[in-house]
Amino acid sequence: MITGASSGIGRETALHLNAQGYRVIATVRRDADGDALREAAGHPDRMIPVRCDVTSDAEVSDLAAGVARITGGRLDAMFSNAGIANGTGDVTAEGCPVATLERLVAVNYLGSVRVIQALLPQLRAARGTLVINSALMTHTVLPYNGGYAPSKAALEAWADQLRREIRPHGVRVVCIRAAAIATPLEAKQDSAGVPSDGPYPDQHAFVEGGLVLMRRAAGNAAVQPARVAELVETVIGPGRAPLKPIVGGNARPIWAIGVLPLRMQDALLARVVRRMVRAAQGEPPPVRWPASR
Ligand SMILES: NC(=O)c1ccc[n+]([C@@H]2O[C@H](COP(=O)([O-])OP(=O)(O)OC[C@H]3O[C@@H](n4cnc5c(N)ncnc54)[C@H](OP(=O)(O)O)[C@@H]3O)[C@@H](O)[C@H]2O)c1
Repeated sequence: MITGASSGIGRETALHLNAQGYRVIATVRRDADGDALREAAGHPDRMIPVRCDVTSDAEVSDLAAGVARITGGRLDAMFSNAGIANGTGDVTAEGCPVATLERLVAVNYLGSVRVIQALLPQLRAARGTLVINSALMTHTVLPYNGGYAPSKAALEAWADQLRREIRPHGVRVVCIRAAAIATPLEAKQDSAGVPSDGPYPDQHAFVEGGLVLMRRAAGNAAVQPARVAELVETVIGPGRAPLKPIVGGNARPIWAIGVLPLRMQDALLARVVRRMVRAAQGEPPPVRWPASR
């Protein structure tokens, strides 16, 4: 069962696992997205789109009941993937509106928790695997993330608690920490609305620079959503899965920054900000995109 399968990583993972022969229950918010998913599936009879908004108690409760009808109450694997980013309006810690932070928490943290809680009895019954799409940003927090990092950090802290409690039941809990992956997530942002004046004028160029670098790297193998789909297949398969695997463009160097002493992290990330600002101003790409897994 995969949440948020209308586009990006969720869609790619649903199609990939279906192509490998898995029966996939994939949540979408629009029927048209479900139809498109089934049309693209290698085994359409084993692709089951279900409508669900993760912020709705009623829809999540219906989802759990629907999944139980399909699986007989035993769910082998679940990928909690649905999520949103924020590169719109003021994206600083000081200026990002609380209403925006609430929306990110409602979808990325509480939405994920709502679905996982509803499905855990079925995962426990199958001694299955829970995979959560967290973010590398929980480990190395970039500035100007618009409240995205705190929402994912809350989710990961909750997942740490769950993993330690549910161990005796044989359910594995894996948090995927992706760095840059080329999906519609970025295109959904309206960077024009990010202020270029006020006390944090770099925030606008930082967000723009991120979009520029992402567009330049779009064809690179390391940033393809297929990388995450293959990783999900690995961690739900037999064998000892890493608990917090990293994936995506520049994942290794970004991870490495996060283990340095804090003052060193701050100095390096200040350099990253300057590079992003220069990228927004049209300078050649300063960042390599090595294959990171
Ligand atoms: N792309 C990256 O660089 C990156 C890096 C680290 C982590 N991630 C994480 O990866 C996950 C997937 O993102 P993506 O990059 O694949 O972006 P995406 O293409 O925008 O996919 C996001 C998915 O979540 C769904 N969604 C959003 N709000 C929802 C809600 N309230 N209820 C149910 N579904 C909802 C979207 O459905 P609609 O089409 O209906 O909106 C869409 O299917 C997210 O959790 C994101 O934080 C992405």
